[in-house]
Amino acid sequence: MDKIVIVGGRKLKGEVEISGAKNSALPIMAATLLAEEESIIENVPDLRDIHTMIRLLRALGAKAQYDNGRVVVRPGKNIKPIAPYKLVSTMRASVCVLGPLLARTGSAQVSLPGGCVIGPRPIDLHLKGLEGLGAEIDVQHGYVNAQAKKKLRGHDIYLGGSFGSSVLATDNVMMAAVLSQGTTQIESAACEPEVVDLARFLKKMGAKISGEGSPRIEIEGVKKLRGAHYAIIPDRIEAATYIFSAAMTAGDVLVKKMEPSHQNAVIDKLTLSGVRLQKSKNSIRVRRTGKLRPVDVTTLPYPGFPTDLQAQMMALMAVTPGISVITEKIYPDRFMHVSELNRMGSKIFIEGSSAIVHGVKHLSGAPVMASDLRASAALVIAGLVAEGTTEVHRVYHLDRGYEKLETKFTSLGASIHRERE
Ligand code: EPU
Repeated sequence: MDKIVIVGGRKLKGEVEISGAKNSALPIMAATLLAEEESIIENVPDLRDIHTMIRLLRALGAKAQYDNGRVVVRPGKNIKPIAPYKLVSTMRASVCVLGPLLARTGSAQVSLPGGCVIGPRPIDLHLKGLEGLGAEIDVQHGYVNAQAKKKLRGHDIYLGGSFGSSVLATDNVMMAAVLSQGTTQIESAACEPEVVDLARFLKKMGAKISGEGSPRIEIEGVKKLRGAHYAIIPDRIEAATYIFSAAMTAGDVLVKKMEPSHQNAVIDKLTLSGVRLQKSKNSIRVRRTGKLRPVDVTTLPYPGFPTDLQAQMMALMAVTPGISVITEKIYPDRFMHVSELNRMGSKIFIEGSSAIVHGVKHLSGAPVMASDLRASAALVIAGLVAEGTTEVHRVYHLDRGYEKLETKFTSLGASIHRERE
């Protein structure tokens, strides 16, 4: 297994280009199953999760390949609607083949994804939504068995849960509804840009959807969809991770090929903490010369502050003078990175679903263990400002979500490399 080795203390300077969004690409790749014809998806990042999705599409009987940022999928006529445990267990986003399989073939057998290190991750809202469209669902032996004895029918579906809206449940229901008979209204739909991206791809396939990006999405079912050619939006979480690293190292970085309008919550909090952010059409310049100031942050569904940036924000707070508070409203247990940051000298205390961060003057480089994708990113950016050497172990998590991470940081002047253990 590889580890990432970082020698901290360098200010980041220069330009970095953002890759396509993993969390858009995965559901869009699943959506290709809704047509027999070929779909081509561009700007797809070269990541482990993307290759897992390719393997899953092949297991379902589609022809799928990845080549230099482009995914080509030919589902053909004979889809096998069984998503095996071996693949689903390695990537939770596999669950988004459920809606397309059901809509396209009238049945789906998808392994239950289970929880993960960021906490319990139920799929009750996915199942409730699909049942609302007329599917019969039972869960046996670790598999969700969904059947549509008659054609799926449009329905009013409320998708609000105890933790707000659900991104992939909205995706699954939208993908099933596009081939249902009649009209579906999803209430309390997720408003994330990745949901909008999926809706745009589905519309290119011939779907009739309106209201995407708002809590009410309306879908008028159509009989058939065609293949489509589409380019994925830039990854807002990757972009913000580079923005945070520039802010932490008191650097001057132009983050390019990104969508500034997806970063309003981040811009708001970083501006309050003393970072200068200058928006242009597809880029943000990040500069910091003065001291960081403490802020309080609560994670919320979009357009709120993303849970997928909570760990990176905490790394920044760790070196911000004063006391900052971060409250996690999406995954109340998503604090695995705290003990690792504390091994680097931070002073972070957990109180229920909040972390109280007492800023320290210096972090000190240490060997640390990555627990999940975003926790790994937080440890890397903490390593960039720490004194001495930080070794981030279990980097396979990072390879699930950050394309060319070491190359991008190296081009900004960081001392970072990968070693085989
Ligand atoms: N929830 C339920 N029931 C459900 C579904 C979700 O109670 O049926 C709860 C979850 O437990 C959580 C909240 O609703 O408390 C929101 O979860 P959501 O369903 O929105 O998460 P997701 O769709 O499974 C996506 C991203 C995650 C990201 C979350 C929240 C993908 C592939 N994954 O997951 O990304 O954290 O939305 O924004 O899009 C990551 O990239 O590191 C990552 C974990």
